[in-house]
Amino acid sequence: MSRKVTNKIVFNHIKVLDAGAKGVSVAKAPDGKVIFIPNVVPGDVVDVQTFKKRKAYYEGKAVRFHEFSEHRVEPVCQHFGVCGGCKWQNMKYSQQLLYKQNEVKNHLQRIGKIELPEFEDILGSEEQFMYRNKMEFGFSNSRWLTETEIESTEDLGNRNALGFHIPKMWDKILDITKCHLQQDPSNAIRNEIRDFANENNLEFFDPRNHEGLLRTLMIRTASTGEIMVLIQFFKEDKPKRELLLNFLADRFPEITSLQYVINGKPNDTIYDQNVILFKGRDYILEEMEGLKFSINAKSFYQTNSEQAYELYKITRDFASLTGNEIVYDLYTGTGTIAQFVSRKAKKVVGVEAVPEAIADAKENAKRNEITNCDFFVGDMKVVFNESFIAQNGKPDVIITDPPRDGMHKDVIEQILKIAPEKVVYVSCNSATQARDLALMDEKYKVTRVRPVDMFPQTHHVENVVLLERR
Ligand SMILES: C[S@@+](CC[C@H](N)C(=O)[O-])C[C@H]1O[C@@H](n2cnc3c(N)ncnc32)[C@H](O)[C@@H]1O
Repeated sequence: MSRKVTNKIVFNHIKVLDAGAKGVSVAKAPDGKVIFIPNVVPGDVVDVQTFKKRKAYYEGKAVRFHEFSEHRVEPVCQHFGVCGGCKWQNMKYSQQLLYKQNEVKNHLQRIGKIELPEFEDILGSEEQFMYRNKMEFGFSNSRWLTETEIESTEDLGNRNALGFHIPKMWDKILDITKCHLQQDPSNAIRNEIRDFANENNLEFFDPRNHEGLLRTLMIRTASTGEIMVLIQFFKEDKPKRELLLNFLADRFPEITSLQYVINGKPNDTIYDQNVILFKGRDYILEEMEGLKFSINAKSFYQTNSEQAYELYKITRDFASLTGNEIVYDLYTGTGTIAQFVSRKAKKVVGVEAVPEAIADAKENAKRNEITNCDFFVGDMKVVFNESFIAQNGKPDVIITDPPRDGMHKDVIEQILKIAPEKVVYVSCNSATQARDLALMDEKYKVTRVRPVDMFPQTHHVENVVLLERR
């Protein structure tokens, strides 16, 4: 161990042991403390320079590699390491799956502390790249510079960028030339917008001074081939806005929904904004097992459509419906799971907090000629009560797919009170899921567990659990 002038410690010949939370790997310092290191793979042997010291751990970066792990692969993306998006791209996919499965196991065992069955193997994604159906990019006049650019004495000229935020840097955007997460024409659309905007002096957003014209770009694709493009402008400038949107419409006639937002607010979320249609329809259609789902600019739809289909099949399989059951689909979003299982149920009741999502759910059910699904808007802990259950019938099966925070304790109490035969718990955060499973342990036994990988090259993992009444 040697000390540097900068007071940062360098630990030599450290073996990386594990792939930890948030895509950062884990090693042990000679003093026994944990070191978190990004951009390394378990099995690498490195010298680590620390840049943060806490009571229980260090954060550091690898400054020299002595051995490369056998689990390494060459990242396909030129932006890997700077872009925060695909932190595991340097690790073999089979290893990614192993660490995801381990994370779920650890959470369920250590946080849940409940009796668990043998886990079913994690379901990997057939597509390990180009699997996302939605991407959002930011415009900025303050491009993230490489170290060479910073050191250069030459005039860097235009610093416009269209791409992703650098992690933890709200005002810096990494200019993206090729992203491997969404199918074409996603890259072509983004790159041509950037070029056209530069050639025509359309100002990129200035995040520090809050000025400029172009703010964000969203591209949604669907397995039906339909494409939605939404451009967010900071202010109305009709000639320039029309110049860009007409260019896009002409250059990419395959765009079936071209929309825009004019948002002068400090933040760039579009959820409270008026979305204006420029050309085509204000939604695109996704299809799953013959069911059609309309997706508008604000709709939530699972980001990896192909794996969503696999996830829903596992959910339906765990529910093992016979056609006679009343099923509740809690946190139903746009009612996709509800409709997906509806053919095998007597009736499905979906509950969700976002009114637009429920409007979509009803519209989609109508489009799909599904008549045995009812959808309700409201905060789950308020809506899901005695009188709601009395009105809609006591569920035989509950499917629940809460946000990352898991279920509110009142919702869990209500489930325990009515105690349906089965609960299928779909989760994107196995830590909160484990906490909730522990709370349900008095009445429910976990009988099946199957993690599903929806996001290859990242540490995220979905998990499906079947609970059966004791
Ligand atoms: C993980 S998504 C599940 C979406 C849906 N099951 C699907 O597969 O598309 C969680 C959903 O819970 C909704 N939600 C979050 N908090 C809620 C609450 N307190 N009450 C009701 N719904 C809520 C969100 O709006 C979101 O649609």
